[in-house]
Amino acid sequence: MPGAPYRLAMPVPSTPLIVPSVLPADFARLGEEVAALEKAGVDRIQWDVMDGRFVPNLTFGPDVIAACRPHASVTFEAHLMVEEPDTLLPRYVEAGCEVVIVHAEACRHLHRTLGRIAELGARPAVALNPATPADAVGHVLDLVELVLVMTVNPGFGGQDYIAAMEPKIGEVARRIDASGRTIDLEVDGGIAPATVAGAVAAGANVLVAGSALYRDPGGLEHAVADLRARAEAARA
Ligand code: DX5
Repeated sequence: MPGAPYRLAMPVPSTPLIVPSVLPADFARLGEEVAALEKAGVDRIQWDVMDGRFVPNLTFGPDVIAACRPHASVTFEAHLMVEEPDTLLPRYVEAGCEVVIVHAEACRHLHRTLGRIAELGARPAVALNPATPADAVGHVLDLVELVLVMTVNPGFGGQDYIAAMEPKIGEVARRIDASGRTIDLEVDGGIAPATVAGAVAAGANVLVAGSALYRDPGGLEHAVADLRARAEAARA
């Protein structure tokens, strides 16, 4: 298989990106829900794809995402919490996911899988579970445009943020800096007004939040603006 063509990396935004997880959304109205998220000012939307094997939960197939694609123009991310994702990659790219995140722990040949995502025309990204060391991305930074450091054990929303991941976020940030490439550093799990500053100060610039956005009494727009402001203050 030819080497993946080098792709211009996504520019790391000067301001943090707020990316909602649709896990807490009303599954009976997902098209309206993604439209509401876009209206609330989110930067991207993340689909938490779960196969019931890599994580003990089952969520969105590609057809569900494809049905929602026309309802929002923001970038869709597919966070594939699935074993051996290779066979599913084309389906999620065709469904309209521009960023495809695979777990290092779920890929027998991670280097090849990431190259495959680029060949499909999507932006390759790799996720690390809490117990997986930062070293796991050491030999694939030339193939990715985003590294996701999980701050909960994947499978469910509404879990507590694992602050012990902050040193690992810093380790990944240093590796990205040393690579000389423009790579987003995303965190996912328990990101909320009380935890976002720690994650950003450690090096994250893309913040995935689900529960914290949907439980804000001020509504989605307030929740997104508040999280962004707190993240920007933590970068200052
Ligand atoms: C874990 C999920 C959650 C979700 C965000 O598998 O990926 O991290 O996106 O959940 P909250 O923001 O509710 O912790």
